[in-house]
Amino acid sequence: MFAHFQKELNRLKEKGLYRALKKVSSSVDTTVIINGREVILFSSNNYLGLANHPALKKAAISALQNYGSGAGASRLISGNLEIHEKLEQRIAAFKKCSAAIIFSTGYMANIGAITSLAGKNDLILSDQLNHASIIDACRLSEAETKIYPHKDFAALEEILRQAIRRHGKAGYNNIFFITDGIFSMDGDITPLPDLLKIAEQYNALVILDDAHATGVIGNNGGGTPEYFDIADNKRLIQIGTFSKAMGSLGGYVVGHELIVEFLINRARSFIYSTALPPSVVAASIAAIDILENDKTLLHSLQNNIDRFKKGIAEIGYDSMEIETPIIPIIIGDADLTMKFADALFEKGVYAPGIRPPTVPDNQSRIRVSLMSSHTEDQINTALSVFEEEGKRLGII
Ligand SMILES: Cc1ncc(COP(=O)(O)O)c(C=O)c1O
Repeated sequence: MFAHFQKELNRLKEKGLYRALKKVSSSVDTTVIINGREVILFSSNNYLGLANHPALKKAAISALQNYGSGAGASRLISGNLEIHEKLEQRIAAFKKCSAAIIFSTGYMANIGAITSLAGKNDLILSDQLNHASIIDACRLSEAETKIYPHKDFAALEEILRQAIRRHGKAGYNNIFFITDGIFSMDGDITPLPDLLKIAEQYNALVILDDAHATGVIGNNGGGTPEYFDIADNKRLIQIGTFSKAMGSLGGYVVGHELIVEFLINRARSFIYSTALPPSVVAASIAAIDILENDKTLLHSLQNNIDRFKKGIAEIGYDSMEIETPIIPIIIGDADLTMKFADALFEKGVYAPGIRPPTVPDNQSRIRVSLMSSHTEDQINTALSVFEEEGKRLGII
């Protein structure tokens, strides 16, 4: 009965692509116990260390006591608690947008927004390195989807011109450019103002997935638009998640009121899914409170990025341009990368190896994710292990 699945799993094992879960048996912090071993964690999206912050925990407990453990229904039935609307107002204000709608996860926000906004007779242009949830959403939408080479807007324009020519006189109903703000594997930032300029020219809308940028870049942690000093732009529809720098869970779309009204009526992952539990919503609100009132976490994160960037260059690693807490250290060969990741783990540093198909051939890498709560000692320890093990394996 299961022969096909077993065969497929065996194939994955043979190709070195088999995935297995690692068990964490401690609180979510810079040091964790994974598979029984204490390691310094360099793989978390908990960039500001908020996932274990007392204020978030306190807010979650209080909401649990006030409202109960679950919302009990989808938002459009009877699950629309006042706390959901409060979070929507807070995230819209934080992002300097007029309206917001929350989803159960960032993945669901992408699925819901993209599949309902883009349909038949629409065109999507999507960056080659966009997150899997965007790829899946484009596939699920009925729109014609074209992939443009990573951040290559000249190529985007060429693909766009050709598509418009081929499509004929009637034209597309809507054209969408979709991009991550900070790319999750390379840690680089999309040049958003350039993309918006082209969008203006072709009357396109830009869907920006700012999952990794929110709470991370911009003077107030406002993400990619704030980083580039772009105020609320009508062409911009922002998607995000509370699960990364905000230390909680839940996705959102922020933008023009009309877009939010449309999504409430059309986004299936919003309509047909139970509303987020109030405790989770309260934790997200507490995270926004912290971001709005205290810049120390953002500053510590930047200091840690600078510290790691300097250290890794001194050791002699080939890392890409480091702009954000996501730092890819390119090894190249997939087997060597995994061997290196295992060696780091054995020495108490957990930074995962990333290999094809997640990244292109010969671009296998160790992906380091930094947190504001990493101490100077933890970063120095990691750097010495990178040096020691890198030399032992002949990588540097
Ligand atoms: C760019 C990007 N978008 C969306 C998501 C999905 O967010 P969530 O984990 O909240 O579902 C992720 C998370 O992995 C991501 O990296």
